[in-house]
Amino acid sequence: MKGVWKDFAKTYKIQEVLGFGGYGGVYLVRDRKTGDKYALKVYTDDNLKIAKSERLREATLLQEANGRCGIPLMYDTFMLASNPQRNSKRQFRISKRGPPCPALLMDYVEGQDLSEWRRDNPPTEAQVIDITTQLSRSLACLHAIGIAHRDVKLPNIIIDPQGNIRLVDVGISCTIGNPESSPLVQCKNAELIGSFDILPPEALLDGMVGYPVETYFAADIWAIGTIAYDLLASDFLIQSAFDFFPAYPYKTPLPLPAYKQRLDNLEISAEFKSVLRRMLHKDPAKRPTAIEAVEQLERLHGSIKTQT
Ligand SMILES: Nc1ncnc2c1ncn2[C@@H]1O[C@H](COP(=O)(O)OP(=O)(O)O)[C@@H](O)[C@H]1O
Ligand SMILES: [Mg+2]
Repeated sequence: MKGVWKDFAKTYKIQEVLGFGGYGGVYLVRDRKTGDKYALKVYTDDNLKIAKSERLREATLLQEANGRCGIPLMYDTFMLASNPQRNSKRQFRISKRGPPCPALLMDYVEGQDLSEWRRDNPPTEAQVIDITTQLSRSLACLHAIGIAHRDVKLPNIIIDPQGNIRLVDVGISCTIGNPESSPLVQCKNAELIGSFDILPPEALLDGMVGYPVETYFAADIWAIGTIAYDLLASDFLIQSAFDFFPAYPYKTPLPLPAYKQRLDNLEISAEFKSVLRRMLHKDPAKRPTAIEAVEQLERLHGSIKTQT
C-alpha cells in the first residue's frame, strides 16, 4: 500500500527524533489507535528526484532483507507534504506547504546507537568482544542472503539495555549473487562508497578498482575491525590514506604503518588483538569471512571465560 501524507497523519503521530543522518531524519512514531511504535525515515534532499531515488534504493533493500538478520522490517512508504517540524508546544507538525518528502515506515529498534552509548558507557574489552561477535553474526547472516552492508559504523548500530545489538541503515548496501535482486541495488565493481573512517585499504588506495564484487563482504569485515578499535581506543583507526604507509620509509627497520602501530598499542589480550589483526588484514582475500570471524571470536569468549 502506498500512503499519502493525509493517511499518515490520520494514522500515526510523530513522537520524537531518533537520529539524523546523511539522508534526513528518523522519527519514532506511534499508531494512534493501537499505540504500536514504528520508525519513520524521512528523505529531505532539496531535489525531490534524488530524495525519491534514495528512498527507492533503501526500500528495495529493506524488502529484499525482509526483516531477516535483524534488519528492520519495512511496512509502508509515504509522501509527506513536508519535512516534520516541531511547533511551539514541541509537537511535530507536517505543514501542507511543502516541499514534499518521501518517507518509509519500518520496525522501531529500541535502544541507543553505539556512538551515543559509548559516551556514557566506555566499554570493557569483554563488551567489545561481545559487540564484535554479535556484529560478525549479523554480517554472516546478511552475507549469506547476498547483502553487503557497506555502512557498518557506530551510528548505524543500535544496542538495547540487555546489550543486544542490531544493524540499521541499508541505504548504501548492495546485493551479490542474487539474479532476482533488482538491478538498482546489485553491487557494481569499483564503487567507492561509505564513510572514510571505515573504508578498507582496497577502497582508500585503489577505489575498489580491480577487485571482485565479493570484496564488499571483506570490506564489511574490515569495518567491524575499525569499530572494535574505535570502541577500545576512542579514536579512529584510519585517519588518512597515509596511515597505510610507514611514516619514515628511509629508516631501518621499516616502522609499521600507522594503523598497525595503533592496533599494536592497544592494551588488550593478545588473543583478541590477533583476531582483530586478521579482520584488519590489508589484503581483503586474507581477512576471515564473517562466519570465520564468528568462530574465532567465539573461541575467544571460551578462552577469556576460562581465564577468569
Ligand atoms: N529502525 C530504527 N529504529 C530506531 N532507530 C533508528 C532506526 N533507523 C535509524 N535509526 C536511528 O536514526 C539514525 C539515522 O538513521 P539512518 O537510517 O542511519 O539514516 P542515514 O541513512 O541518513 O544515515 C541512526 O543513526 C539511528 O540512530
Ligand atoms: Mg546512518
